[in-house]
Amino acid sequence: MSTQASGLEALMSSHGRSRGVTRVVAITSGKGGVGKSTLSANISYVLAKKGFKVGIMDADIGLANLDVMFNVRADKNILHVLKGEADFSEIVVPIEPNLWLIPGESGDEILKFSDATIVSRFVDEAQTLDSLDFLIIDTGAGIGDTIQMFLRAADDVVVVTVPDPAAITDAYAMVKVVGRVRKDIKMIVNQVKSPKEGQKIFDTINKVAMGNIAEGLSLELLGTVRTDSHVSRSVKQRVLVCKELSNIAPAGDIEEIAKIIGNKKEHKMLEARKESGIGTFFKKLLGQF
Ligand SMILES: Nc1ncnc2c1ncn2[C@@H]1O[C@H](COP(=O)(O)OP(=O)(O)O)[C@@H](O)[C@H]1O
Ligand SMILES: [Mg+2]
Repeated sequence: MSTQASGLEALMSSHGRSRGVTRVVAITSGKGGVGKSTLSANISYVLAKKGFKVGIMDADIGLANLDVMFNVRADKNILHVLKGEADFSEIVVPIEPNLWLIPGESGDEILKFSDATIVSRFVDEAQTLDSLDFLIIDTGAGIGDTIQMFLRAADDVVVVTVPDPAAITDAYAMVKVVGRVRKDIKMIVNQVKSPKEGQKIFDTINKVAMGNIAEGLSLELLGTVRTDSHVSRSVKQRVLVCKELSNIAPAGDIEEIAKIIGNKKEHKMLEARKESGIGTFFKKLLGQF
């Protein structure tokens, strides 16, 4: 209990490294099992280690992924806050210095709460999280309505794919759907044999997207992550790759990606949206914006 309290004090009392508004980054995919949770957890860890204050939200709660990955127990989630049964300080789980898990909900339940008074109380409550530099959201896979809400509300959307043809097809379908509501989409190609293989896959998707999807769409490859059997083993062993196996290739690849994300925030190169931050994110998510 005391570690939890001190963790929360650290979250609420001082400012993050970049002292700007919270950047909300949604990590998604067309097909499941491509590495969203692995990448979300490790990118968050690396950003936190660099000194950014990072919240990581599990919006794919059906699989209860991240609490298992971080080896912590989350009793309550964001739905309890929405219902007024808990406040944010009770649901947030400190993981590491600068890193907090925000147990989420798959969305269907969350989106029932569109009542203006509930939303406004919730958004006030969410100010607790205002000193976060990043909120990384591990969304479910697929192009369902609720995932779309998360993707619409986030500042950045990262679509993850792997080299297998079905995953590539689904990633393209995802880009197409997200491309209807936003012009900038980022990608990570995971489980590649070489960075070259990943780049080739990205180039193919990019080429097809440029020819067929709404004009002005900009796809950016954030990076490629090599495949390594240590990664799949690490999940079973509840070990974070970037923390405890930092010498393997995928750990280095993920660090590169986290560096790009961190640098963009520090240099304010990520497109400055007029309205952003935690409050705006939740208002958008809950349809009040
Ligand atoms: N770069 C990688 N190399 C090897 N295995 C990986 C890699 N990335 C993810 N995996 C494994 O693939 C499986 C699915 O990853 P996960 O992060 O759970 O995917 P998702 O969240 O998209 O469903 C896990 O067993 C994970 O350990
Ligand atoms: Mg997952």
